[in-house]
Amino acid sequence: MQINLGIRRVRAFTLKEMIGFGSEADVFREVGRCNQPLSVKIASDRLEHSNLLIENEAHILSGLDHPNIIKYMGHGKIDSKSFLATRLVEGVDLEDYIKAHFPMPEAQACSLVKQIASALSYVHSKGLVHADLAVKNILIAEDQAILLDFSFSRPEKSYLAFEENGKFIMGTLSFISLDRLYGDPPSVKDDIFALGLIFLQMFTGRRAITDHDTETMHLDQGLLHLKIDGSTASPAIKSLIRKMVFTSGDNLRRADEIIEALK
Ligand SMILES: Nc1ncnc2c1ncn2[C@@H]1O[C@H](COP(=O)(O)OP(=O)(O)OP(=O)(O)O)[C@@H](O)[C@H]1O
Ligand SMILES: [Mg+2]
Repeated sequence: MQINLGIRRVRAFTLKEMIGFGSEADVFREVGRCNQPLSVKIASDRLEHSNLLIENEAHILSGLDHPNIIKYMGHGKIDSKSFLATRLVEGVDLEDYIKAHFPMPEAQACSLVKQIASALSYVHSKGLVHADLAVKNILIAEDQAILLDFSFSRPEKSYLAFEENGKFIMGTLSFISLDRLYGDPPSVKDDIFALGLIFLQMFTGRRAITDHDTETMHLDQGLLHLKIDGSTASPAIKSLIRKMVFTSGDNLRRADEIIEALK
């Protein structure tokens, strides 16, 4: 079987060079038509539903076209495993980038956050949410931020079939909102919450919420206030981050508002 996705020798993937892996997939470097470097993400046996997640991601990404979103190149099945091909980004993930560039100049942090907000604004304008915004799901290449891993993306406030109406939570614990921890379906404000935590990480060098203290940090919001206060961000940026991560008061409800605030 030959799948027409711009990749030569689909049946003959060599898949020697692994460039990443996640809970649901292994990611390899490949070469497509015209020698274009590709990333091929293949369902792994580590997670049930990994085929469905890759197919979901392929379905979502094939309808998106934005400079700060990973470019879809094709998808299909190899033997019984679903795969997704995207344009290869030669960069590092945002978590490693922050570590390597800490303390990051505020102008650079704002530029990266604006780019991610622009990608989110575009996704939200299509009635979708990313639902797994996290430092490991953003790549940085030549000062450009590229959003990837749309495995859990879906129309706002809906569940994926196997989430059993919120019984199972899909996402990255450190960046997940309390509402989602309690089983609510993901919304635009949950993406903005995650972006607020990412923004904060740029001024602290580390994740605000670690996986094991997710709930404590959410329930005792004073702790999150302390982390924001103790960061190296300017007062204006601290105030913006608060509006992104706290749901009460004059919080930000749209990604556009973040871009506007950072102008
Ligand atoms: N197009 C690409 N170019 C370069 N690297 C990529 C690309 N796509 C994925 N990667 C690398 O592979 C890693 C895993 O990819 P991805 O996050 O899509 O997989 P996942 O299994 O859904 O991860 P998770 O553990 O978040 O569920 C990324 O963090 C990134 O380092
Ligand atoms: Mg990922």
